[in-house]
Parts: sequence; C-alpha cells; structure tokens
Amino acid sequence: MASSTFFFSFFSYFLLVLAAAASPENYLHLRFFQHERILGVANATVVLSVNADNSGLATGFGNIVAYDNALRETTDLRAPIIGHSQGLGIGSDRSGATGFTAFSMVFTGGRYNGSSLDIQGIFISQPLLETVSERAIVGGTGRFRGARGYLLSQEIVLTPETLTGQLDAFIKF
Ligand SMILES: *[C@@H]1O[C@H](CO)[C@@H](O)[C@H](O)[C@H]1NC(C)=O
Ligand SMILES: *[C@@H]1O[C@H](CO)[C@@H](O)[C@H](O)[C@H]1NC(C)=O
Repeated sequence: MASSTFFFSFFSYFLLVLAAAASPENYLHLRFFQHERILGVANATVVLSVNADNSGLATGFGNIVAYDNALRETTDLRAPIIGHSQGLGIGSDRSGATGFTAFSMVFTGGRYNGSSLDIQGIFISQPLLETVSERAIVGGTGRFRGARGYLLSQEIVLTPETLTGQLDAFIKF
C-alpha cells in the first residue's frame, strides 16, 4: 500500500511536469500505456460481440469488439493500473485495414482519478505495430470537462497474449 501511494504521488508529479511542458500550441500532453490481453486468450480484455463476416477477427468488416483495456504509466505489466480504455471497435473498412472506435479513458488513480476522456475515430490495424493512428478527443468529464484535442496512438509490443499501446493525448480546454 505504501509503495502504491508513493507511485501515485510520483505519477501526479510526472503529469504536472508534462503539463508544465505543454506543447507550443498550448496543448496539455499526457502519455499513457494501454495493456490489452488479446482476443481469444484467457481473460482477454477484448471480446468479439458481433461476428458479421464470420472471420472471427476483430477487424472483419461489420464485426464489433468490446474492450476494457488497462492503462498504466509505463509499459510494465506489473505497474499499478491508473485507469481503463473502455469502449468498442467496429470493422468499418471492407479491406479490414482500419476500424472505427469509440471509447472512454476512465481514470481510477493518479491526478485524474475520477475523470475521463472520450475518444472517437479510425484505428489503423494494418500494419499493427508502430503505425500511428490519430483520433479525436471529443470531450471529457471531471478535470477533463469540456476537453477537445487529439490522441496519437501506436501499438509497440505484441506477445502471444498481450498488446501494448502508447497513447499520447493532446488536450485543450
Ligand atoms: C484469469 O483470471 C482468473 C481470475 O482472476 C485468474 O485466477 C487466472 O489466473 C487468470 N488466468 C490467466 C491466464 O491470466
Ligand atoms: C480514486 O478515487 C476514489 C473515489 O474518490 C477513491 O475511492 C480511490 O481510493 C481513489 N484511488 C486512488 C488510487 O487514489
């Protein structure tokens, strides 16, 4: 418990430093790492809700996935969870290369505990690793009330069970 308290204090400081170093356009820049247990493995954080094209793939045209992925301050799976990305993806591209996503980043720890950011837009899934997707920040709650901006994300580590993404949120109020 003591170490987790320390972590959250450190995390708050980290976010403050990033806030102070806002980009030239006056966006608040926050970085998070998203940890997904991939579709089909035990305790997956992504499930296929509609399998319209019978491919069984998240990206199949017409397919719908729901997800509840963990957010952490680092790429380390043992680091404390500071929130979750909760929402859905729809295979909205006949080629299967991209999909439409709508989700909330719901914070349960750190400086933004109790607040959330709402994201909407196209996720590029091919190639999966190191492809940057830009999605719109369309709103938020709590400390992020009235937020606008953009989210840059890229998947950086894939194992047989996990997928780690780097999320960079650029926020204006
Ligand atoms: C899945 O979750 C259950 C319940 O929390 C846990 O006991 C089990 O070890 C987990 N399995 C894997 C493969 O993570
Ligand atoms: C987050 O906020 C909730 C509600 O105020 C509180 O119960 C919880 O302990 C907080 N979590 C952390 C990690 O600070």
